[in-house]
Amino acid sequence: MNKIFKNPIILALDFNSLTKAQSIVSDLRNHIGGVKLGMEFFNSFGPDGVKEISKYGIPIFLDLKLHDIPVTVYKTVRKLMELDIAIINVHSSGGREMLEAAAKARGEFNDKSTKLIAVTVLTSLDNKDIKEIGFNDNSEDLVLRLASLAKDSGLDGVVCSAKEISLIKNKFGKNFILVVPGIRLEEDNKNDQKRVMSPKKAIDAGADLLVIGRPITDSKDPKKAIDNILKNIKQ
Ligand code: C5P
Repeated sequence: MNKIFKNPIILALDFNSLTKAQSIVSDLRNHIGGVKLGMEFFNSFGPDGVKEISKYGIPIFLDLKLHDIPVTVYKTVRKLMELDIAIINVHSSGGREMLEAAAKARGEFNDKSTKLIAVTVLTSLDNKDIKEIGFNDNSEDLVLRLASLAKDSGLDGVVCSAKEISLIKNKFGKNFILVVPGIRLEEDNKNDQKRVMSPKKAIDAGADLLVIGRPITDSKDPKKAIDNILKNIKQ
């Protein structure tokens, strides 16, 4: 399977139809960098569904956000590594031992090109929610703390919101991979995204890969939508 992202667009395939996902990938694979398959897809179609998408030779970000005791995460990452995907993710709040177990499982395979990244704080949580769970840091400090834990534990990067890109990039350097959702062009429908950033601003701030779904999949002309995003980045 190909793990090279030829451009920064990771297309989010948020459907529970395998045929629809296959038809979109077949049509757009030469225009995008990769695709993101999430929990809904994985719980509907399992590893066989991932293998079906893999057949198109496009890098896959499998967004399962693992969070469990270290041995369970270790065994799960080992199983996922057999699928030969480009990016796997876990929750940083699973703690150092869990993160190290995930990194160990990834490291046990000869091909080290699968990237292991962490979710820090879900962007659906605000400071009030964070306090209610029992964390005393505000969201920014907590994001930095959890990104630092991920880096120390041998992970390659984090998923972060647009507003955190510069903060994390400045602190952890250019090799720490930032995967960023919530990307919209000026003219796009924001859907349920509250805080959005343009592709260019996100890349200029230090994003490495952009997760974009509906602006492309809901478009009447998805190839043109992709072209417009790539043009925006090059401006
Ligand atoms: O359609 P849209 O471009 O909003 O899709 C963005 C994708 O990124 C979705 O799969 C969504 O679940 C995911 N995501 C997000 N915001 C986060 C984390 C993930 O929109 N903070």
